[in-house]
Amino acid sequence: MTKSETDIHWNNRAIAEKNPEKVNIGDTVQREVEFSFIRKHLDTTARVLEVGCGNGFLTSRLRNLVGFVDAFDYAENMVLQARRLVGEENNRFFHDNVLEPKNLQGPYDIILCVRVLINLKNLAEQRRALANMARALRPGGKLILLEGFNNGFSALTDLRGRLGLPPLTPAPINFYSSYDEFLPSVRELFDIDEEFHTGMFDFLTRVVYPLLVGPDAVAEAGDFHHRIASLAQTFNPDSLRPMARLIGLALIHRT
Ligand SMILES: C[S@@+](CC[C@H](N)C(=O)[O-])C[C@H]1O[C@@H](n2cnc3c(N)ncnc32)[C@H](O)[C@@H]1O
Repeated sequence: MTKSETDIHWNNRAIAEKNPEKVNIGDTVQREVEFSFIRKHLDTTARVLEVGCGNGFLTSRLRNLVGFVDAFDYAENMVLQARRLVGEENNRFFHDNVLEPKNLQGPYDIILCVRVLINLKNLAEQRRALANMARALRPGGKLILLEGFNNGFSALTDLRGRLGLPPLTPAPINFYSSYDEFLPSVRELFDIDEEFHTGMFDFLTRVVYPLLVGPDAVAEAGDFHHRIASLAQTFNPDSLRPMARLIGLALIHRT
């Protein structure tokens, strides 16, 4: 398959970003908020497939909490960096494409896919990736999916506009589908075990924070983010779900 501009972006970022903690996501506090959901769904004996593992940062934590991790990425440089930085213990790093996987050794008990589908071209590709992941899971196995959808961006932009703040624009390399359009494909293959959202984190970092420091002074993961991290994890009411840029799903593969 031909590489898209987004694919090339990730292959370059694997070596251009010198801080390994920030290669996969600059906002390291958001990653902690995400991990609070992920870890609840892991199992010490599970054979796990990690889709779009980047430089293996998440893999290095994951492998301590499960039996074995097969982790792949479509960016060759990410796989090289993962082998170099994290290495292989009870895990394997390899090159593959979620749209056309060739090197999987399934079926897996758990598949983890974090902010990967937003890098595909459109909803049709996202659906294809979802079907491929379902095929690699054992019946009754679990897909832990954390992805961005455009609904939260619209709600945050609307509130920001009413407060005199500029619109929140998604990164141009990403494609955000609407959650309502994506959900039917999920329901065809999976039952929903648990849903998660980043509503409180996004409300605080995308509305309260720019109001406090001014929209031009916001930092990616600064002191503010660290100070509110425990609040975002402890109190995340459903009333803030419409503001979530990210939705997490723990999905059970239907037999
Ligand atoms: C935002 S990073 C997330 C990395 C990791 N999941 C994490 O949370 O730390 C997205 C990763 O998905 C990978 N990716 C994008 N398209 C892919 C595809 N078709 N197959 C496999 N990996 C892909 C990119 O190369 C990049 O490393």
